[in-house]
Amino acid sequence: MAGLRGALIVLEGADRAGKSTQARRLVEALKERGYRTEGLRFPERTTEIGQLIGSYLEKKSNLEDHTIHLLFSANRWEQVPMIKEKLRSGITLVVDRYAFSGVAFTSSKENFDLHWCKQPDVGLPKPDLVLFLKVSPEVAATRGGFGNEIYETNSFQEKVAKRYAQLMDDKTVNWKLVDASQDIENVHRQLKELSEKAIDDAKDQPIGKLWE
Ligand SMILES: Nc1ncnc2c1ncn2[C@@H]1O[C@H](COP(=O)(O)OP(=O)(O)OP(=O)(O)O)[C@@H](O)[C@H]1O
Ligand SMILES: [Mg+2]
Repeated sequence: MAGLRGALIVLEGADRAGKSTQARRLVEALKERGYRTEGLRFPERTTEIGQLIGSYLEKKSNLEDHTIHLLFSANRWEQVPMIKEKLRSGITLVVDRYAFSGVAFTSSKENFDLHWCKQPDVGLPKPDLVLFLKVSPEVAATRGGFGNEIYETNSFQEKVAKRYAQLMDDKTVNWKLVDASQDIENVHRQLKELSEKAIDDAKDQPIGKLWE
């Protein structure tokens, strides 16, 4: 049917919650079910802005905290024309992290408030569904240690979890909490079911604007 758009589906959650694992599986499963589906991730490290972000995360360069926050946001905005075009052409996008990560991470630093952190991302294409993979720090720890990237410490991740909880209080966003301590297959089944419903609900709706 002409004119039906795809859905914007975002996966969020703490480090090692299983976002990347589930994003890959979800793309494949939705394709098998006949939905045109593609995966995206943020940060998208292949662009010029993305390379600056990658270098910061890998601690190869230091950037002022406001500056890196704005670069993360810019890295999303630079993909917006492509995102809108794909959604409008009927392609569903499964996105591994989005503005919620950006806000949860920067607002966990000293002297940053949630309101300021959200502003650069106001007006981004609004996800039709945000799947929050919830996992306790203890369970996450069984999935391997932290890597060497800048935000990968326990104390920082605890702050991030609190910020996510604050963001989830906002009922203008379609959050769905999923218990990600279950095995991969069980989590996958739930994400697939929630996603198929979101695709059906979004198909004849305009693309919304985040936090407006
Ligand atoms: N439900 C699960 N049960 C057990 N292990 C899991 C589960 N989901 C993912 N894993 C494993 O945990 C590790 C982290 O998974 P993954 O990379 O998908 O997490 P992530 O949320 O993308 O992490 P990051 O925030 O660091 O990118 C991987 O080794 C993966 O195989
Ligand atoms: Mg990942």
